[in-house]
Formats: sequence, structure tokens, C-alpha cells
Amino acid sequence: MTNEILVLGATGKTGKRVMEKLQKMGIPVRAGSRNGTPPFDWDRSEGWASVVDGIQKVYLTYYPDFMAPGALEKIQGFVNTAKKSGVQQLVFLSGRGEKEAEEAERIVIDSGLCWTIVRSSWFMQNFSEFFFLDNILEGYFVIPKPKAFEPFVDLDDLAEVVVEALTDARHNGKIYELTGPELLSFKDTTRLISEAINRPIVYEEVDMNGYIKILGDYQIPEDIIWLMQYLFTEVLDGRNESITNDIEKVIGRKPVTFAEYVVKANRTGVWDIQH
Ligand SMILES: NC(=O)c1ccc[n+]([C@@H]2O[C@H](COP(=O)([O-])OP(=O)(O)OC[C@H]3O[C@@H](n4cnc5c(N)ncnc54)[C@H](OP(=O)(O)O)[C@@H]3O)[C@@H](O)[C@H]2O)c1
Repeated sequence: MTNEILVLGATGKTGKRVMEKLQKMGIPVRAGSRNGTPPFDWDRSEGWASVVDGIQKVYLTYYPDFMAPGALEKIQGFVNTAKKSGVQQLVFLSGRGEKEAEEAERIVIDSGLCWTIVRSSWFMQNFSEFFFLDNILEGYFVIPKPKAFEPFVDLDDLAEVVVEALTDARHNGKIYELTGPELLSFKDTTRLISEAINRPIVYEEVDMNGYIKILGDYQIPEDIIWLMQYLFTEVLDGRNESITNDIEKVIGRKPVTFAEYVVKANRTGVWDIQH
């Protein structure tokens, strides 16, 4: 047994930040990635035992999403393999207000291992590192009419919470609900980004059928279309329209605002347009 921490989704949005922070602290990390050594693939359970071999703690993230077919079985299978191998602690990335995510949390909570659940609101970085980036670059932000405001979370804050949970036993057995410091509409987020990049972004709300058609026209993969439909109809219905102070409770400072995130993201050049 070593003190190496396994980070699943190590090249993904949260995993890469957790890896970086642990490495800066001098803590050895193993990258859970299809290109890692050994490789980790949710679709190849035969490889999981060697990925968790000698590992004590795991940052457990699932890709693509808990609603994907077979997600719960895979998470259960991975947790069983980890436990058998001697893993003692799991820090689990979950989604706030999602029934399927809570079913996945139950697997972790019932595992008999030490656990912390990090239940997150929508990531701010969806606008710079994921699905909404193309909308920003095109200057055309189209979404189905949302029924609620969202307390978007900055992923550097989230990664700090995860690292705390991985390195301090007082977080064992806790469920943290992470939110940013403010409730925002997508119109607000579009305006804040547009002002920062100094380019207009047309904002349009359409009905769900119109949205699905637009995504289809852009050849967005079926599973992403399905995910967006689920998120906009089921999750963005008002159930998450509240702020918590869990980030401040864990890391001892206020969470980053959307405006601060926009400044950080803009500095990276991710929203620059090549002429
Ligand atoms: N986006 C949000 O706003 C939000 C909010 C709350 C919770 N969440 C949850 O966060 C979790 C992660 O979502 P994310 O969008 O942030 O993804 P992500 O962590 O950015 O995931 C992308 C990574 O997944 C890895 N991956 C892809 N297919 C894989 C496979 N078959 N086996 C193993 N790894 C694979 C890829 O790594 P390699 O190519 O290196 O293998 C890639 O770097 C999801 O469970 C989601 O429900 C998301």
C-alpha cells in the first residue's frame, strides 16, 4: 500500500485541477485515464484491478453522466474492485438535484469505506472548457427557456474542496453541496462573458423541440442532446435555486463569482477568435 491517490477523469475538467493541486502539495498521484499507466476505462472492467493496486484513496468521477445506461452498475463494480484491493477512502463527484446521481452516491455511502460526497451545481467552466464554449465562440447562445436560476460553481473552488476532503479526515461521512455565491440566469452569464470579451453574443431562448433540432443541425452527438434535454427539463426546474455556504465551510473563503471566473478564463485566451 502506498500513499498514492488515484484521480479518475484525470485529464477532465475537475480531475486535472485535483491532480495539479495534489502534485503541488508533493502528494503522489496516479492518473485515471484511458491513456494512463495502467490505463483506466469505464468500459474495460478487466483493467480496474491494476489501476487501484496499491491505492488507498480515490477521487471518483464518472463519465459521461450518471443517467447513461449502465452507469450505476459500473460504479458499483469499480467500488467493489477498489474495496477488494484495499482502497480505504472515496471522494465522489456528484451532481446536485439529480436522482440518478443520488443513487450513485448511495453506492459510495454503502461501500463500508470512508467517503465524502461533493455534490456540485453546474460548472462555470462549461462556458470555457465544455459544451457552451462553441456558443461563445460563435457569438450565438441558444438554449431552451430555463425555468430557474443556477448557482454556477468555479472548478478551482471545487478542486480545493476535493483536495481538502482527500487529505483531512474531518470530511469523512460528509455530503457537501457546492454552489457559487450568486444565482444567475443564462442571460446574465452570456452578458458577463460578452462584456469581458468585448464582442456581442446574441442570446436566444427557444422551445425544447426547436433546441433539439438546432443541436441536431450542428451534429451534436445523440447522448449529449439527451443529456441537455434532461438537464433543462428535469434539473433546471427550481430545485437547485438556492445558495449554500459549503465551499466557504471547507476551504475557509468565499467562492469565486462568475465575474471573477470570466476574468480568469478570458486571460487563458480560450474565447479568442483567430482571424
Ligand atoms: N458539467 C457540469 O456542470 C457538472 C455538474 C455537476 C456534476 N457533473 C458531473 O461531473 C462528472 C464529470 O463530467 P465532466 O463533464 O466534468 O467530465 P470530465 O471530467 O471533463 O471528463 C472528461 C474525461 O473523461 C474521460 N473519459 C471519457 N471516456 C472515458 C471512459 N470510457 N473511461 C474512462 N474515462 C473516460 C476522459 O479522459 P481520458 O480521455 O484521459 O480517458 C476525459 O478527460 C459527470 O459525472 C457529471 O455528471 C458535471
